[in-house]
Amino acid sequence: MRPRPWGALRTLRLVIERLTTLIPPARVKTAAADLAFWGRDWTRGHRVAPSAVVFPETVGEVAGLTRLANESGFKLVPSGGRTGLSGGAVASDGEVVVSFDRMNRILGFNAADRVVRCEAGVVTQALHSFAAERGLCYPVDFASSGTSQIGGNVATNAGGIRVIRYGLTRDWIAGLTVVTGAGEVLELNRALVKNATGYDLRHLFVGSEGTLGFVVEADVRLTTPPPASRVLVLALAAMADALAVLTRFQGAVALSAFECFSELALAKVLVHRRLPRPFAETHGYYALLEFDAEGEEAALAAFQDALSAGQAADGVISRSDAQARSLWALREGITESIAPQTPYKNDLSVRVSAAPAFLDEVDRLVAKRYPDFEVCWFGHIGDGNLHLNILKPPQLTVAAFQERCAAINPALFEVVRAHGGSISAEHGVGLAKRDFLGYSRSEAEIAIMRAVKNALDPNGVMNPGKLLR
Ligand code: MLT
Ligand code: ZN
Repeated sequence: MRPRPWGALRTLRLVIERLTTLIPPARVKTAAADLAFWGRDWTRGHRVAPSAVVFPETVGEVAGLTRLANESGFKLVPSGGRTGLSGGAVASDGEVVVSFDRMNRILGFNAADRVVRCEAGVVTQALHSFAAERGLCYPVDFASSGTSQIGGNVATNAGGIRVIRYGLTRDWIAGLTVVTGAGEVLELNRALVKNATGYDLRHLFVGSEGTLGFVVEADVRLTTPPPASRVLVLALAAMADALAVLTRFQGAVALSAFECFSELALAKVLVHRRLPRPFAETHGYYALLEFDAEGEEAALAAFQDALSAGQAADGVISRSDAQARSLWALREGITESIAPQTPYKNDLSVRVSAAPAFLDEVDRLVAKRYPDFEVCWFGHIGDGNLHLNILKPPQLTVAAFQERCAAINPALFEVVRAHGGSISAEHGVGLAKRDFLGYSRSEAEIAIMRAVKNALDPNGVMNPGKLLR
């Protein structure tokens, strides 16, 4: 099957004609507003120019579309909840967007295996509710869970706010059904716990950002719900104190979250959500800890010790679920609060032990290079993952602002490399970080990644330009 260049189809009309031999016309959209809506993710500044958006309803339709793309030479962009922050779901060059909005059924649940089979378009929150109705829990959670879809979570190996206890999406995927870039349907691992039969291709698709094929169905593990929890927000003088506090609390209680945010991040949320300030005074940084309620006494003792050691300046603890939710809002509201300022996002990680020195160096670099920009720090400090958001001043255009921010990437990513870190902890590479992959992966690794891509997507129809150039 040799690909013909896109031009061989000559007109968009022919593409649409071909698509509608597989997908009924009502499920093929080409109106400008639809292309603009489904052709992008939460990032801004990328060109958005798909040819069409299609809404398959079956695995067979996805496989048919993929084979058609190979025969006809058009490209495909997989599309889930489009909450990504790296441009991984942006269609910028006449691609056909394949939306999983209509493949959103939960197909089955096995109580003995505690495995639920989902189509790729199941929204994360729907899976949370499904699990809760059965007295179980799907513990991967993030602020975008009301919109993000399981297929996208798998494609980006989404992390979120409880990684410190429950790990990443990868840790909960028992099996996958995928359509490779060549149009083959593969059943990967069939939800087995043990399967020592060579390469586990399931894990190649987790985090592959739609570059190898489509995740069409997933077997997702559920678990026992966590015990009742408490949320404690601590006021800190410096971000580096968070690490000392983390070590102290890890020795005292079972943590299920350890998040951090700066005063600027808090101030944005308080204005955006019209919330009261949690402390009478302002402080440099805040840590949000969630832990099992049975550990409350030990946590309060650890808090007193942190106060005495000068590692924390103040604290507030939840006494009810409602209070826990309002404390969480201080952290979960950050992304939406800064969104109007078109932030330039960096999603950096280092080993937790390397975090203090790393932070110090990045802080100095940022203060020197961005003296006139607002710099908003927050993140999952318990995972060594920090979100460095630079906020656009109103007088700059998005393009000019992004250019200035990108100009310091080499210096910033050198610091990441020097500390053995990653230039993308959980947001993926997509378009935004593609040209910087070499700061986190060696040439040999990238060559192997290309070989894997060629093996599964020999004609390069899948999500072109993402992850690898
Ligand atoms: C978060 O931690 O809130 C997400 O990664 C989103 C973001 O970084 O804006
Ligand atoms: Zn995050």
